[in-house]
Order: sequence, then structure tokens, then C-alpha cells
Amino acid sequence: MLVVLGFVLLLTGARGFGILPGDSQSHLDITDTAILNATVQVCRALAQAEGNIFTTPAQPFTVTDVATACRAQNSIRSFQLAIVTIKFRNVRVDIRQVLNASFHFDDESFVEGRNIIVGGLITVKNSINQEDFEAARENLGTILHPLQDFYSHSNWVENGNQFPNSNLIRSDTSIGNIAAVNRATCRSCNGDDCSDNILEDITQDNVLTSGYFSLFPTVPTKPAGKCSHGGTFDQTSDIDPTGGINKDTPDSEHGNLHEEAANLAAMATSEILENIRQEVEDVPFLLMLGISRGSGKALCFVIDTTESMSDDIAAVKVATSSLINNVAGTDDEPQSFILVPFNDPEVGPLMRTTDPQVFKGFVDDLSASGGGDNAERSLTGLQLGLMGSPRSSDIFVFTDAPAKDVELKTTVIALIERSQSVVNFLITGTTVENRRRSSNRIAAADSQVYRDLAQAAGGLAVEVETDELLNATIIIRQISNSSVVTLLQASRDPGSMESFTFLVDETTMNTRIYITGNSTTITITNPAGATQGIMGIPLFTSSSVGNLEILELINHAEGTWTIDISSENPYSLRVTDQSPIDFLVDFVEIVPGGNAFDVLDTRPTACNNGSLLVTLTGSDTANVTGVTLVEAAGTGAVAGTVEPQGSGQFLVRVDKIPSVPFVVRVDGTANNASFDFQRQSPTNFRASNLTIRGEVNDNLVPGTPFSVPFSITEDTGGNFSITVTTNDQRFTTSAPSSLLVQPGVLTNSTVMVSAPLNTPSGSTITLTIEVKNTGSEDTNYLILRIVVFNTVTDLTAPMCEVLSFVNCVQISSTKTWAVSVRVSDGADGTGVERVTRTQGNGTLNIEPSPSNGNVTLVTYNASCTDPDMALVAVDRVGNTVACAFNAFQASGGVAPLVSQVHLICALNLAVGLLHSLL
Ligand SMILES: *[C@@H]1O[C@H](CO)[C@@H](O)[C@H](O)[C@H]1NC(C)=O
Ligand SMILES: *[C@@H]1O[C@H](CO)[C@@H](O)[C@H](O)[C@H]1NC(C)=O
Ligand SMILES: *[C@@H]1O[C@H](CO)[C@@H](O)[C@H](O)[C@H]1NC(C)=O
Ligand SMILES: *[C@@H]1O[C@H](CO)[C@@H](O)[C@H](O)[C@H]1NC(C)=O
Ligand SMILES: *[C@@H]1O[C@H](CO)[C@@H](O)[C@H](O)[C@H]1NC(C)=O
Ligand SMILES: *[C@@H]1O[C@H](CO)[C@@H](O)[C@H](O)[C@H]1NC(C)=O
Ligand SMILES: *[C@@H]1O[C@H](CO)[C@@H](O)[C@H](O)[C@H]1NC(C)=O
Repeated sequence: MLVVLGFVLLLTGARGFGILPGDSQSHLDITDTAILNATVQVCRALAQAEGNIFTTPAQPFTVTDVATACRAQNSIRSFQLAIVTIKFRNVRVDIRQVLNASFHFDDESFVEGRNIIVGGLITVKNSINQEDFEAARENLGTILHPLQDFYSHSNWVENGNQFPNSNLIRSDTSIGNIAAVNRATCRSCNGDDCSDNILEDITQDNVLTSGYFSLFPTVPTKPAGKCSHGGTFDQTSDIDPTGGINKDTPDSEHGNLHEEAANLAAMATSEILENIRQEVEDVPFLLMLGISRGSGKALCFVIDTTESMSDDIAAVKVATSSLINNVAGTDDEPQSFILVPFNDPEVGPLMRTTDPQVFKGFVDDLSASGGGDNAERSLTGLQLGLMGSPRSSDIFVFTDAPAKDVELKTTVIALIERSQSVVNFLITGTTVENRRRSSNRIAAADSQVYRDLAQAAGGLAVEVETDELLNATIIIRQISNSSVVTLLQASRDPGSMESFTFLVDETTMNTRIYITGNSTTITITNPAGATQGIMGIPLFTSSSVGNLEILELINHAEGTWTIDISSENPYSLRVTDQSPIDFLVDFVEIVPGGNAFDVLDTRPTACNNGSLLVTLTGSDTANVTGVTLVEAAGTGAVAGTVEPQGSGQFLVRVDKIPSVPFVVRVDGTANNASFDFQRQSPTNFRASNLTIRGEVNDNLVPGTPFSVPFSITEDTGGNFSITVTTNDQRFTTSAPSSLLVQPGVLTNSTVMVSAPLNTPSGSTITLTIEVKNTGSEDTNYLILRIVVFNTVTDLTAPMCEVLSFVNCVQISSTKTWAVSVRVSDGADGTGVERVTRTQGNGTLNIEPSPSNGNVTLVTYNASCTDPDMALVAVDRVGNTVACAFNAFQASGGVAPLVSQVHLICALNLAVGLLHSLL
């Protein structure tokens, strides 16, 4: 009830700027305005620095115009995605933090509110520096909410300020002259007239106050003489002094100042964006907003590096080199590159870069070795790739072996759904006897898991021989090309005889049909009714490799095309094109009793009504006329009702979400309804009968266990298994392995998460909680992102310094060698915690330096027959170094320190950060 009340409340806009589009300026509008404004400024500065002309787009700015002015036409979709992510997080504060005054600058909680902003700002910058742009967007959205609310809820505007309060984004300055707890700030309004309810001395003395707020008449939260927030739901506004001071809408108590407050909120938002940009610099700042010169997409390779893959890896190197040569510096250059090698048992580390040449270097450095048995940990590798890649990435998995970790299949499908990334498999050695490892040949049944995953991910499972692999890599360039959209995707198992249709519109320009499966008969009919072959007009060219057939339309006639497929075998079909017009889709939860929505981090509820938010990209004139959930493996379809929300967004309500995997199809018109278009989601979605909810409202502090509460419900109840995974093995978790759920009863549980002490601030822990009904195999999941906030600044390992050394000249049992070493942790270090020997049998003495407790002195003596010695030193936060010494190093000024390996490189850095050290 309590939460429902909160929801109703925010619908009225009484709890901050509105969160829905409307007559007044909402958090959505303010955020849009400021991001577009900030982007224009940065792109202009960049263009000027590069000596290019920058043409400022016409006001009001649109996503399409701004991206185009930034010469980033192919980034329109990723720019829109970044903005939508930031806005969703901003709105979520009103849904999930409705009762926490600090998030709204209510109740004079100025210090607490600023702490939220300043703390969040640090994590945003850290995340950008670590190239985790998704985490940066989410946290940015969260802190923009209080920042914007300040101007509506405080008396900053009433005090006559014309500029934002810059001290809200700094921690070392005064926010202003905050009213003392016992100082009265308001008098009661005169009926509905609140035009002079703030006391004159408050305004004269430039004292800062904000309205008190409570939903509950029984909770007396307002001290005597204090202003109220106001509005119907604020129970404090009936307590003397009555009325309120908020400027959330033009109808609010101080609604005459709504426009001024909203403009200041937009300026403050621009200011915090500028602050971030100055710290992280222009290009990373724009990447955080999804803007880059290239394709706006991320390309991820997940590669099997076991012994038998050596020829395949050679082919991948050639393909990568040719891809990079072709796309570097062009509109098709991916925004980021990710590489995940997997072997047995090692998987990873994940390497990430925005530099194509660096990526080429990563791939060139791969070599094949090890493995042994004939099944590999391919799904573990894919899981790491999915967790480390941004949404809507193009992922390619290269392997020649069955997966030995098939138990991860449901988790991988969950990650595919959340990330909406297209996963393609290039599998060698399935079709014809593989010469080198005929015994290890991957059987058709073994590659079924890859086919299933490709299907869930709207990708292709291409099965070829090793010598055809290079030929097959042509799809990498085609699929990861900029502005690829999906017109149709479907799969059939068993095969069938069926007609499929797709719509070619005036913006599309390069239609390709991909079919995997064997012995399929395909007939294509164009909109005029002509069929390939008839009257001698060729409609398409075709090429094939392995089990993949690619048809390219020659005559690109607009209208509805038909593909008739007849096959006894399973097949999958994918029709793509290149067009600026595309869409983003998110399942959302409609807040009970109203129209507000919160994006779901889980599967929607099966067989029930549900909602999704469709955001059109690439056209400011396009309109959505229909949205349909189409079964991926069948012909069933459910149409939704469409409600425009402004800014190219459409809320879609569906009566009954299918219980089987489905795709989302969007029908629309563009250019003043002069033509129709049709697009499909590239990936599949699934619903579940299980509802799972949970949230993270805080940052994780390394070394301190962090609890993530979650709850599940299910109508029939039963025993549910719980599987928890994170994106990095260094993060440890504990959770019950199963939960007994009574029918319809909300069942609560908790996952505990820990990160090692030296995890850097801004690292992100992606936590997947997967719940499976052990009776029906129905699965749902919750994917949460936890940001690490580390007060520890010691990120460097200790070092070893040789003080004196007596060497050996020959191996002799009568001669000895000696070394003395100073182990220290540097000026900013936390000090040496311990030093231990890992090699050498001589006499060792380890003791703290008498003059400096943070330094450890080591002396060592050994026979020349025992010439090697090694130490490991660990500092107080766990950074570790291994130092090795050898008796035969020349003496006389040459240090005998053979090597000093900072284990921090391997152990301590967040996944994805590694590349910056390589
Ligand atoms: C409000 O949120 C802040 C920041 O997350 C937290 O420190 C504080 O305890 C919360 N206050 C309440 C009353 O929940
Ligand atoms: C636009 O950005 C500039 C530079 O950051 C800033 O001075 C201005 O206030 C911004 N305008 C709005 C409406 O946010
Ligand atoms: C390909 O077709 C053959 C013959 O119809 C069949 O035996 C085989 O199972 C099919 N392969 C796949 C992967 O469907
Ligand atoms: C692969 O190579 C063969 C022979 O060179 C060619 O006929 C076929 O079209 C190629 N396939 C692709 C997908 O390029
Ligand atoms: C968009 O399409 C809907 C449904 O066809 C229609 O009702 C609406 O008027 C259209 N809006 C615009 C701006 O064309
Ligand atoms: C949900 O429950 C219904 C009725 O028991 C069942 O038919 C359906 O398959 C279930 N859906 C899922 C996704 O398990
Ligand atoms: C689970 O938590 C919710 C909210 O915290 C509470 O309302 C509910 O009673 C709890 N359920 C059980 C079974 O403890």
C-alpha cells in the first residue's frame, strides 16, 4: 500500500518535476535538453580543435540532428540508448526512493543530498575512466535526480538566484547559508495563495531552506515554522505553516516559478556534464553518451584457444586484420572491441579497447595450446563476453568443440536477453571429418546448444570446415556494419514448408537474407509478384559457406517480399538491411494505479498483461502504428496497444505476454506517413511465471560484505533453485542454493557479495541471480549492477630494492652468496603487511625496519649450489609483488633483482581495465 501511494503521488508530479512528459517540464525533458546542449558544446569544441566547421543544429535540438552535427550519424541509436538509460535511472529515483528525503532535497537535507551527488559523481568519472560506460550512465541518471529536484524543492529561485548552485557538485565548499533547525522559514499560505509564504528575513538573509514532506499524517516530520513541500499528498502541508513551496509543475504552490526552476535545473545538469567532461576529456565523455565517429556498436570476439584451434586462430587473425584495415577510421569502425580467449580450465581475461590497432594486437597475440579433452568451456567465455560488453553488441564465438559447461545455457540466454546482443557462432569441424582430430570431431548433437543460443540471440550458427572459416568471416563485416537493422528473424525445428514476408522501405538499401540449415528449398517473390527465375529476371545473388546461405537482393523494390522455405530439416532465417530507422525496446513495469513505468531487470510475467517501451531512433518524423510480439519458433502473435509518450517513445500494453520465446515487431510510418516500415528486435525475449524483484541502492565498499535482498513469487509454488554469478571470480557471493516458495507468497532472500580490498572505485559487479522452478524448468533472473566505491587509494604493489649483494662466480658448495633487500610500499602506499619466501633454502631474516614501520628489511644467505631465491610481498590492502633473485647476476653495481612481477596486474584489476596496462 505504501509503495502504491508513492506511485500515485509521483504521477501527480507532486514529488519533484514530473517524470512523465506533459505540459510542464519533467525530469525527462530537463535531462534531454541538458544532454543535447552539452553534446553540442563538446562536439563544437572538438570540431574547432580539429579545424572542422561545426554547424549548430536548429533549436530545439533533436538526437538525430545533434548526432549528425557531431558527424556521428551511425551513433544515433547508441546516443538514444545512452539518453534513455540515463533518463530511466533518473525516473527510478522517484519510484524506488520516493520516501528518502535526501534524494529530493526535501526536509532541508542539503548536506545529505549533496553527498549523494558528489559521491555518485566520483563513481561516474571512475566508470568512464574504466570504459564502463553503462555503469556511468546509470549512476549519472541517479544523481541527476536530486540535482534537478534542488531547484524545485528549495528556495534557491525565490532567493533571486539566476544561476545554478555550483557547490552542489563540490564537496569542499559551502552549499550556502542553510537554515538552522530551529529557524522558522514559512508562514501559512493565504488559502490557495502561497505567493508570499516564505518569511522575509529568510529571503533577505539569503538563507537556504526546502519544503518538508510526508505521506503519512501520523508521522510528524515537520519541525515548527518550517515550509512544506505542498501538493495533495503531502500530509505536512496541512500543518501550520500550511501550503508549500515546490515548483514541480505550473500548478504547484510556487508554480509561477516552475519555468525558472526547470531552466536552472537544466543549466545545473549542463554544468555537471561539463564537470565530468573536463575530468575525463572530450572523446571518453562522448563515448559515455554513445557518440563516436564509427558504427556506434561494440564488437566482441570469444575465441577458443585450445590446441586444435591453431588453424582457426590463424584464419581469425587474417580476418581481423582485414576487417580492421577496412573499417579503421571509417563510419563502420566499432565504438569498442572486446576479446575473450577461453581455454581449459582458464577463461579470459577479457580485454577491451576502443583502438582498432590495439584490438588487432590482442588477436595477433593469441596462440593455441592445451585443451586436452574434446569439450571446452565455451559458455563460460561467452558469459564473460556478454557481461563485459555493452548492450546491443555483436558477438562472435569461434570454436571447434562442444561446450562442457552446458549448465550455463540458461544464464547465457538470460544475459543475451538483458544485453540484447546478437551472438553468432563460427563452428569448425562439424561437417566433414576433421583431419587433425578426427576423434574430436564435434557431433551435430553437440552443436545443438550453439544453435539454440544463436537462435535466442538472433544470430547465426555457422558450421564450416577450417579451410572455409576465412570465407565465412565475411559475415562479421556484414553483421557488425553500421546501421544494420533486422527486418525478420525466425527459426523452425522441425523444418516446415512456410511463407515468410518482410517489408523493404525507402530508407533500406542493402537487403540480405541469411539461412542456416541444410537442404532447404527457397523461393523469393518480389512486391510485384515476380519470382526468381521466372521471365529471366534475377532477384538476388547467392553465396554459401558451410551450412549458411546468403542471398542479396539485386533489385531493391519497396514493398512486401515473400520467402517460401521448404525443408525437412531445422532451419533459421534472418533478414537484415541497412537503414537509419530502428528501435530500442525495454520491458517495463507499469506502476500500480497509473501511468508511470520502471524498466524491468528481469523477464516479464508470462500469460499475463505486460508493457514495453519502444523508442524509435534515426528519424524525428517516424511514428509507431503497431507493436506485435511474434513467436520466434511458431506463427502465434500478440498485438499491443500503442500510446505515444513524446520524444520518439511509445508505451505498448499487451494483454497476454507469450509463454514461449518471441521477438518484438514494430510497424510504423515515417516522413509524414509517406511510407511504412517494419523492424524486428534482433534478439528473442522470454517471459516467466516467476516474478523476481530486488534492487541495489548503495555502493559496495571493498572488504565489507554487501547484502542484496531479493524476493520471488510464483502462483503454484514449489522448490526453486538459485544460481548466482558475477562477472569476475574475484567477487565472491553466497546465497541459498534453493528456496521453498508457497503458492503466491512473496518469499524473501539475500545474496551476500564481497569484493577484495584493492578493487578500484568505479569497478562494476554484474550480479546475476537466476531462479529456476525445479519442477517445470521455468526460469527467471535478475541482473543487477553494483558499483564499487573504494576509499582505498593504494593501488600499487610494494617494491623490492637491493641494498647489498655478494654474488657467486661458479657453482660451489663452499661458496655462498648474500643479498639484502628493502621492501617498501611507496609514498602513497598503505605499508608492507607481510613478506614471505617462495623459493630458496638459505638463511633468511625478515624484520621491520627500525626507522620506518612501513618498510621491511630482508637479508638472505645461501650456498652457491642454491642460486635462486624469491619473495612475495603484500601490502595492507592486498596488492602483491613477487621478487626473484639469482646468485650469478654480476655484482659491482648491477642489481641482482631478476624480476619483480606485480601480481596486481593479474589479480587486482577489474575485468576490462587490463588492457590499459598491456
Ligand atoms: C537515504 O539514502 C541515503 C543514500 O543512499 C542513505 O545513506 C540514507 O540512509 C537513506 N535514508 C533513509 C531514511 O533511508
Ligand atoms: C548549455 O551549455 C552551456 C555550456 O555548458 C551552459 O552555459 C548553458 O547554461 C546550457 N544551457 C542549458 C539550457 O542547459
Ligand atoms: C542435414 O540433412 C541430413 C539429411 O537430410 C540430415 O541427416 C542431418 O541431420 C541434417 N543436419 C542438420 C544439422 O540438421
Ligand atoms: C566462399 O567461397 C566460395 C568459393 O570461392 C564462393 O563460391 C562462395 O560464394 C564464398 N562464400 C561466401 C559467403 O563468400
Ligand atoms: C501515429 O500513429 C497512430 C496510430 O496509427 C495515430 O493514431 C497517430 O495519429 C499518429 N501520430 C502522428 C503524429 O502521426
Ligand atoms: C506458465 O504457467 C502456465 C500454466 O501453468 C504454463 O502453461 C506455461 O508454460 C508457463 N510458462 C512458462 C514460461 O513456464
Ligand atoms: C518480504 O519482504 C517484504 C518487504 O520487505 C515484506 O512485506 C514481506 O512480508 C516479506 N515476506 C516474508 C515472507 O517475510
